[in-house]
Amino acid sequence: MSSLHPSDLQDIEVRLFVQAMQLRYGYDFSGYSPASFKRRVRGATEHFGLATISQLTERALHDETLLTQLIARLSVPVTEMFRNPEVFQQLREDVLPWLSSFPQFNIWQAGCASGEEVYSLAILLEEAGLYDRALIYATDFNEHALDRAREGIYAAREARLFSENYQRAGGSGSLSDYYVAGYDHIKLDARLKRNISFANHNLTADGVFCEAHLILCRNVLIYFSDSLKDRVLTLFRDSLARGGYLCLGNKESLILSTLADEFKPVSSGHAFYRLRSTNAV
Ligand SMILES: C[S@@+](CC[C@H](N)C(=O)[O-])C[C@H]1O[C@@H](n2cnc3c(N)ncnc32)[C@H](O)[C@@H]1O
Repeated sequence: MSSLHPSDLQDIEVRLFVQAMQLRYGYDFSGYSPASFKRRVRGATEHFGLATISQLTERALHDETLLTQLIARLSVPVTEMFRNPEVFQQLREDVLPWLSSFPQFNIWQAGCASGEEVYSLAILLEEAGLYDRALIYATDFNEHALDRAREGIYAAREARLFSENYQRAGGSGSLSDYYVAGYDHIKLDARLKRNISFANHNLTADGVFCEAHLILCRNVLIYFSDSLKDRVLTLFRDSLARGGYLCLGNKESLILSTLADEFKPVSSGHAFYRLRSTNAV
């Protein structure tokens, strides 16, 4: 019998873990980029005080109360308000004029993590006088992050970065107009939530649930294999209204996707695309 390198053994354990998550809970991680997913599975194993990934698999199979915490450990909910401020500038310049032609419009923010990005969007729309026409669906599969998003409370130490981003995004006031500051946290104005619907939605398993005029899905596809990206892009295509916009993260693009022809890059864009109208639902 040949001996196996510990890292190869872990690869086998990760595959068994992925199968267990699929069979037990219907969560499909098979299309996640292997190296970073393996790191997160190892991190979860340590977090739960277990010696091996196989032990994690056994816990996951037998203890369904672990699921929410486990998903929280497997996901990377890193985000910030007005992250990549130039993207919000471009939204204002290129997308809001089109949205303003509708009496009502839907926005789907997929992979909203702890909500900083969706509140940034609400502020952008508020300042453009469009927020009362909008319904924003903010979704993620990490229930723990969604709870934080629903609260809208963030560490005070982040306020400076958020404010700088807001200014660079072309905000017309001061970000502090939208929050009250406590000793170590900021709490966003509850009015910003009025047109946001937070929901659990798994991009690898769940289907279309709205017709969206704009879909933002930034820094999510970066963790997916090409085939999983295509599955998610198909979902976005089927969810977009005629001529609707898709905004991806700055490191994400449609270049290698089999769906590339169905979207038109927006000139001078930061990963902004428009659904070609022949593919409208
Ligand atoms: C790095 S954060 C991106 C947050 C925000 N869009 C941004 O760019 O700042 C990635 C988010 O994608 C979510 N995610 C990963 N896989 C997902 C899936 N299959 N379904 C739904 N959300 C997923 C994670 O839970 C995480 O909150």
